[in-house]
Amino acid sequence: MTATYEVRGSVAVITLDNPPVNGLGHATRKAAAEGVERAENDAAVKAIVITGAGKAFSGGADIKEFGSPKALAEPSLHSLIAVVENCSKPVVAAIHTVCMGGGLELALGCHYRVVSPGAKIALPEVKLGLLPGAGGTQRLPRALGVEPALNMIVSGEPVNSELLAQIPGQKLFDRVVEGDLMAGALALAAEVADKRPLPKVRDLKARHPENQAFFQFARNTVGAMSKNFPAPLRCLEAVAAAVNMKFEDGMKAEREGFLALMMTPESKALRHAFFAERAASKIGDVPEGTPTRSIAKVAVIGAGTMGGGISMNFLNAGIPVTMLETKQEALDRGVATIRKNYEAQVKKGKLKEDKYAARMALLTTTLNYADIGDADLVIEAVFEELGVKEAVFKQLDAVMKPGAILASNTSTLDVNKIANFTQRPQDVVGMHFFSPANVMRLLEVVRGAATAKDVLATVMQLAKKIKKTAVVSGVCDGFIGNRMIEQYSRQAGFLLDEGCTPAQVDKAAEKFGFAMGPFRMGDLAGNDIGWAIRKRRYQEKPNLRYSASADRLCELGRYGQKTGAGWYDYVPGKRDAIPSPVVVEMLEKHRAALGITPRQISDEEIVQRLVFALVNEAAHLLEEGIAQRASDVDMVYLTGYGFPLWRGGPMCYADTVGLFNVVQAMKRFAKNPLDDGKFWQPAPLLARLVEQGKGFNE
Ligand code: NAI
Repeated sequence: MTATYEVRGSVAVITLDNPPVNGLGHATRKAAAEGVERAENDAAVKAIVITGAGKAFSGGADIKEFGSPKALAEPSLHSLIAVVENCSKPVVAAIHTVCMGGGLELALGCHYRVVSPGAKIALPEVKLGLLPGAGGTQRLPRALGVEPALNMIVSGEPVNSELLAQIPGQKLFDRVVEGDLMAGALALAAEVADKRPLPKVRDLKARHPENQAFFQFARNTVGAMSKNFPAPLRCLEAVAAAVNMKFEDGMKAEREGFLALMMTPESKALRHAFFAERAASKIGDVPEGTPTRSIAKVAVIGAGTMGGGISMNFLNAGIPVTMLETKQEALDRGVATIRKNYEAQVKKGKLKEDKYAARMALLTTTLNYADIGDADLVIEAVFEELGVKEAVFKQLDAVMKPGAILASNTSTLDVNKIANFTQRPQDVVGMHFFSPANVMRLLEVVRGAATAKDVLATVMQLAKKIKKTAVVSGVCDGFIGNRMIEQYSRQAGFLLDEGCTPAQVDKAAEKFGFAMGPFRMGDLAGNDIGWAIRKRRYQEKPNLRYSASADRLCELGRYGQKTGAGWYDYVPGKRDAIPSPVVVEMLEKHRAALGITPRQISDEEIVQRLVFALVNEAAHLLEEGIAQRASDVDMVYLTGYGFPLWRGGPMCYADTVGLFNVVQAMKRFAKNPLDDGKFWQPAPLLARLVEQGKGFNE
C-alpha cells in the first residue's frame, strides 16, 4: 500500500505515501481511489482530506514506472481524478512542500485546496517535451487565470505557493495555512462538510480580456524562444483550448496534444536525457551505499586556465581551496583571473557582492607542499607532460595525509601511469574537467585499474555537490569525449580535402544543432592543440590517415582566435568568424598538390560523416568497456560538446535514424577513396545490434 487511510472525527484523511516524493505510481493511485470509495461508503464520514507524507504532497508521475504498462494501468491518473471530482462528499487537498505535475493535476480535481507557504507548485511536463496530460492545461487556467497558468505550463518552472495565492481572483488555493496544515485542512473540511453544490474547477471559466491578441503575442514569443522544441507551442494551444472550448472538448484537445508530443523525437530525446543523467551517476560494480570519504578541504596544483576554473567550482559550493604553484607570479595571475570572473558575474547581477567576498575568503594560495598535506582531495592541473606530472605526484605522495584522494585533470595522459608514480594507486583517479571549468557541466571521472570503489563513490557524490554531470570513463587515449572527437575532426579534415570550405562544414553542423561547427570550435580551442596531438599520432600510428590541411593552416601561424586568425579571420576584440580568402586559397593549393578535383558535398553527407564517426567510435568504446553504457556517451556529448539536446546525444540520434540506416551510410563512406575506408567498417557492437534489429539505448 502506498497511501494510508484514517478517520479523524467525521473526516477521512488519505495520505499519499510513496517515498521520496509520493509519485503517483499504480499502487498509490489504487490506494488513493480505494480510500475515496471507502469514505464515500462510510456514513460517518462527511468530508475527505488528501495529503502527502514526508517531504511532498506529490511530485507527480512515478518515474520508476515511466514507459512501463504500470504507468497507464487503471486506475489511471485520469480515473483517480474523476473519482475525486465526482465524489459526493467534499474533498480537500492539503498541499505542502512539493506539488508538481500529476500531483497538481490531482489537487485541481479536488473541491478545495489549502496550502502551506513555501510549497513549490509546478507543471514541469514541458521539460520532458510533453504537456500536462491529466487536465492540467484545462484546470490550471480556470483556477489561476490564463496568463499565470500559461507561464507556468510553458516554462515548467516551480512557483512558490504564497506568490500564487496573491494573484487577484485566483481560485487555486482556498486558504494559505501558516502553521499546522492538517489542522487548517480539517477546519475547512468541517466548515464545508454540508455545503452543496460541490465546487469544481472544471465549472469555472478561463477568460482573458484580450483573448485573440494575447494568444497571438504569446505564440510569437513562445515560438521564437523554443525553435527546436515543439512542446511549448503545443502547451500554449492546449491552454488556448481551455479558453475557447467547453471543458470536455478542451480535455480532448489536451489528450491529442499529449499523444502527438509523446511520439516526437524531441520528447523522446528529452526523456532519454533525463534518464541518462540519472543512470550516469551509477557505476555497475560500485553499489549504492558504498561508503564515501569526507571532502571538506581541497587543494589544486597549477593556477592556470584549468586550475582556476576548477577551484571556482569548489568555492561556489562553499568548500575551501588552496592553490599551489611554482612561482608567486603564477599564483597572482590565477587569483586575478578568478576575481575577474566573479566580478563579471557581480556586474551582471548574477552574484551578490557579499557572496563574492565569502567565496574569495575560502581561497588561499601557497608555493609550499607542506601547506596542503591535510587536504581531503587534491586536483592536479599542471602542464600536460608526463615528466611534470611525475614530479608532482611523487611530491603529493610524500606530503598528503593517508586517505586523501589524488586526482589528475589530464586530458590525454595515462592515469594508470600517473597512479603508479605513487605508493597509493588506489587513491588516484582522473577528474577531467572541460574548459571553461567553472561553466561546463561535464566531468569525466577516469577510473584507473587500481582506483578504489570508495574513491569513485566519493567523486561521483562530490560532482553533484559542485553541480557537474559526472560520467565514468576507463583509461584510454582521449577518454570518452576526446577519443570520439578525434574521429569527428578527421572527417572534418577529409571534407575540406574533398571540396568543402570550413564555413560550409560549420554551417551544416550548426544547422544540425551543434553549438559550434568543428572549425569555429578549433579556432576557439586553439588549432595548435590538435596539431600537437597529430604530430604525436604520426609517430604512434604512421598508417592512420589525416587531412594535412590543418597542418598547413598551423604552418601559417593561424592558431585561431588567440592569434587573430585561424580557419577564419577575426577583427581584434571580436569573436565573429569571417570566412578567409587566405584559407580558401590554401585549401585550393592543398587539393591541387594532392591531385584532387573538388566536388560539391551535400549538408546531409557532411552531417552524417561527422555524427556517424562519433557513433562508430563510441561503439568501440562500449565494446572495450571504456564507456559503461550508450546513454553515458550521450551525456558526455550533451554536456561537454554542444550536441543538440533535442536530438538526445549521438547514440540516441543514431537510434532515431535506425542503426541499419547508419550502417548503410557507413558502407557508402567506406567506398570513398579519399576517406578512411577501414575506419568505416562498423564496430562489432554496431554490426551485432543491426543483426539483432536493436538500438544502442534499448
Ligand atoms: P595552463 O598552462 O593554463 O596552466 C598550467 C599551470 O600549471 C601553469 O600556471 C603553470 O605555472 C603550472 N605548473 C606547471 N608546472 C607546475 C608544477 N610542477 N607545480 C605547480 N604548478 C605547475 O594549462 P591548462 O590549460 O590549465 O591545463 C592544465 C591541465 O589540464 C593539463 O593537464 C591539460 O591537459 C588539462 N586540461 C586542459 C584543458 C583545456 O581546455 N585547457 C581541458 C581539460 C584538461
